Amino acid sequence: MTEPRTVVITGAARGLGLASAARLYREGWRVVAAMRTPDRGMPLLLAATGASEGDDRLIGVQLDLLDSASICAAAKAIEERVGTPYALVHNAGISSAGMMEETDIELWQRMFATHVMGPVALTQALLPSMRAAGEGRIVLVGSTAGVRGQPGTAPYSASKGAMERWGESLACEIAPFGLGVTVLVTGTYDTDIITDAGTTDDRDFNGPYARLHQSMNSRGRFAMKFARSPERFADGLVKALADRGAFRRHGVGPDASMLLASNRLMPAPGMHHMSRLVLGIPRQGSMREGAYPLTTAQRAMVFAAKVLPQPVLTRLASLAMRLSPAKPAPDRSEAQ
Ligand SMILES: NC(=O)c1ccc[n+]([C@@H]2O[C@H](COP(=O)([O-])OP(=O)(O)OC[C@H]3O[C@@H](n4cnc5c(N)ncnc54)[C@H](OP(=O)(O)O)[C@@H]3O)[C@@H](O)[C@H]2O)c1
Repeated sequence: MTEPRTVVITGAARGLGLASAARLYREGWRVVAAMRTPDRGMPLLLAATGASEGDDRLIGVQLDLLDSASICAAAKAIEERVGTPYALVHNAGISSAGMMEETDIELWQRMFATHVMGPVALTQALLPSMRAAGEGRIVLVGSTAGVRGQPGTAPYSASKGAMERWGESLACEIAPFGLGVTVLVTGTYDTDIITDAGTTDDRDFNGPYARLHQSMNSRGRFAMKFARSPERFADGLVKALADRGAFRRHGVGPDASMLLASNRLMPAPGMHHMSRLVLGIPRQGSMREGAYPLTTAQRAMVFAAKVLPQPVLTRLASLAMRLSPAKPAPDRSEAQ
């Protein structure tokens, strides 16, 4: 019987990492599930796969990407437990919400440590044996926000963009030895990272950016209704692990594929205006000297008030009151 191929996946305790680890196990891979707290994550993974404790195709390894000692120890544990992995999936990630001016520099450092420095260090530790094996794949879980810088999440966008760039450099360096790199430009999936609780939220709804937060928040909430299940992401990862080319970049999910297509077709100023319009950001200069342009919804209300008769307006207002939720919905706005 041939040995199963080994894949290491980071951030495997929940979200896309958990769903992917479970799926890859079911597909016959030997899965090294790297996570910050294996005591919490491994029982979830065992439950999701139906595997038993001690199964040599499902191995938990402690890894905190913010801690260089933990990265070294994880690389050592991986080589001791499974030898040379075939694939390394850099999935672990964090998100943020807040304008650049509102975000702490410590958050920028944590973002780059999680999405760039930590993954680079882990790759450096595992690469010598992967290179010697003459085959293998490094998969970087990117984001639409890393293709185009998104407002309200600059540290995330910048670090995911940087992640893509180091992946491109790496592909050229390691392809001659038989290895390849895939970037998965990930769309919107229903995990903690897109919720208020799963995000570092520095937004100031009373500050100078309040008008922008307001429209981005409501449009973001609407978009999150279309978030797909994490299991759908795992389909994309399974395909990525079958890639053989030196460098591949795939959109995972319809929103990601659409963004990649428009980014190819549209010039940079056009992409800027598209992002601005989609997120309801007022045009350049419109907020000078404290001006507060109305949101689309507010403009619609003003228009309705001008053209509709009073009884119709009263009916519409009471209908809107009945339809609006009693409690605010979980905020799934500017994150990811
Ligand atoms: N969901 C989306 O819509 C979406 C969209 C675009 C890109 N992505 C990307 O997909 C990846 C997975 O995100 P997700 O949606 O599954 O989010 P999630 O449910 O919040 O999971 C994030 C995972 O990353 C781990 N992690 C965070 N910081 C870490 C660190 N310092 N060291 C090790 N592990 C760490 C977390 O570990 P703990 O459990 O210990 O906290 C958790 O397992 C991320 O890279 C994210 O940027 C997601």
